[in-house]
Parts: sequence; structure tokens; C-alpha cells
Amino acid sequence: MRVLGIETSCDETGVALYDSEQGLLAHALYSQVGMHADYGGVVPELASRDHVRKLLPLCDQVLAEAGCSRADLEAIAYTAGPGLIGALMVGGSVAHAMGLALDCPVLGVHHMEGHLLAPMLEEHPPAFPFVALLVSGGHTQLVRVSGIGEYELLGDSVDDAAGEAFDKAAKMLGLPYPGGPQVSALAEKGIDGRFRFPRPMTDRPGLAFSFSGLKTYTRNTIEALREQGDLDEQAKADVARAFEAAVVDTLTIKCRRALKAADCHRLVIAGGVSANKRLREALETMADKQRAEVFYARPEFCTDNGAMIAYAGCQRLLAGQHDESGIVATPRWPL
Ligand code: KG4
Ligand code: ZN
Repeated sequence: MRVLGIETSCDETGVALYDSEQGLLAHALYSQVGMHADYGGVVPELASRDHVRKLLPLCDQVLAEAGCSRADLEAIAYTAGPGLIGALMVGGSVAHAMGLALDCPVLGVHHMEGHLLAPMLEEHPPAFPFVALLVSGGHTQLVRVSGIGEYELLGDSVDDAAGEAFDKAAKMLGLPYPGGPQVSALAEKGIDGRFRFPRPMTDRPGLAFSFSGLKTYTRNTIEALREQGDLDEQAKADVARAFEAAVVDTLTIKCRRALKAADCHRLVIAGGVSANKRLREALETMADKQRAEVFYARPEFCTDNGAMIAYAGCQRLLAGQHDESGIVATPRWPL
């Protein structure tokens, strides 16, 4: 089955063509990051309008790259949520309009299921069952995955997501949005151990996360440095390093617990924060000791993209699922 995947849940327009026999045929991404940078975050109305401008040309580009025409499409998958309602509606409308024109099935896909299954697009995909750490701008979750659609939530954040914490720490340090890669790059120049930030909720059993206290701790540290006149570039880098180390440690401790609790030896990390180099290294080291294996997508498929939606959609479409009654757009939608 040849499936066009469309991702428009936030500030990236992603399109891909996936074939169940031949694999990924082509993919393209247009990022709106530059447009939202002046505002320090995503402006929903601007995001929707830009998806309208970019989506159809991107679809044509992907089809051309794959040497296909619209008539070759056998199904269409799009992100139905969670995400920004206007942005989701753009992808859903285009998908359903194409589906009507081409008389092919259309399916709305869960954005986090897309992230979760993105490592399946790599050369050595994980076998089921596995434990997945979903770490993005909106989610920090541990999930036991037994098969497509068989997800058991093991742990969740009680407040902020890890990516959100990265973005907020970046803002406090005067770095542009999205902050994760920026904080990480600054942390490279930081001195290990000058500051030690808390590892929230690791001192008690359980798989829940909390990142809002860490955010406050970061703000207080920066304020104290500023008041003392010590907030120079080195101090900022040292704060970034301590912050990143705290997030990475916290996620690693919980992943180790989750592997044990689920009696599993495969760990998948997915979502924007899974692109983080130090997180990958820490999880690899932990997994080695546990005789477990870590799987992740290539960096461009860790953040939002069309390929993960085409893949996840294809699996469900092959199982006979499709939208029964028009566009689905669900801004808040648990996995
Ligand atoms: O999955 P994603 O692209 O969008 C959502 O579904 O939220 O994740 C975006 C998040 C942002 O918070 C961004 O700062 C974070 O992922 N991120 C990173 C890195 N790359 C992206 N965080 C830490 N280190 C990175 N290298
Ligand atoms: Zn995402």
C-alpha cells in the first residue's frame, strides 16, 4: 500500500510517501521556526496560514521526488491530534479533499503514535514488545508497547514536559525558540559540576515525572547569578550544562526503572528531545548495564515529520482502519 503522510500539528509542515513493500520513498519538511522566532513561541494563527501556503506544494514535491503522481496514491494519513486546532484542520482538510478526489481511504493518526513508531523506519527496527520514552515539547511519557495500538501508559509528567522545560530554560538564558538544541549546544561549553540541579521525583519509587520545579530552580539560579553580577557567558553555559544533566539523569533513572517494571530489554526513545546527544549517550550506557538495547530514529525523524505519520497510518490502514465520517481534529487526545 502506498500512503501519503501529512503532518501539520504544530509549526512544521511534513509530507512523506511510504510504501508498505518498498519502504520510505520520499519525504520533505518545511519548518516555520524562523517565522515564530520573533514571538518566542508558536503563534497558532500564523502556523495555520503557513501550513495552507506550504502543504500542497510540499505534497507535489514529495510525489515528484518519488517519481509518482497523485493517481498513484492508495491512501492518505494525516495527524488528527494532539496539536493546534487550526493547524490540524489544514492537514485534515487537504487529506480528505485528496481522498475524495482520488477515491481512496483517509485516516487521522495520533501524533504521538507517529513519534513512537518513527524508529521503525530505521534499518534495525525494534521488535515488540518494547518500552518507549516519549519526550517532546508536549509529552514526557513511558509506554509499554506490545504491538501497533497496544499501548500501556507506565508513567507521565504531572506538570511540564521535558521539551517544554528545555524551551523555558532557553528563554531564561536568552536563547531563541526552540530551545532544546540551543541549550544543548551551550551546555557543550559548560563546566561539569559547577552547579548541581535537582533530579525531580527520583528519590521515591514510581515512573511519574515533574519538570516545573527544575524550571523554578533554574530561574532562581540565573536570578542569583544576575544579582551578584556573575551572569557572564561561562556562567550561562554552566547553568545549561547543569540543567541538561539534571533532565538527562532524571529520564535515564526512570527509563531504567521502566525496563525493570515491564521486564523488557528494548527501549525506544522518540520525540524531539530524543535527538539530544547526551540523553542518547546516557541511555546507551544505562542499557548496556541492563543488557538492554536502545532504539531511536535518525535526528530528522525525532522531531515532527511526515514520514512517521505515513508509516503509522500505513500500519493502521493495512489493518482496515479509516475515517468513517470526515475530518478528525482532536487538540487534546491521550495516546
Ligand atoms: O517532537 P517535537 O518536534 O514536537 C512536539 O511534538 O512537541 O519536539 C519538540 C521539542 C522542543 O521542546 C525542542 O526544544 C525539543 O523537542 N528538542 C530538543 C532537542 N531537539 C529538539 N531538546 C533537547 N535536545 C535536543 N537536541
Ligand atoms: Zn511531535
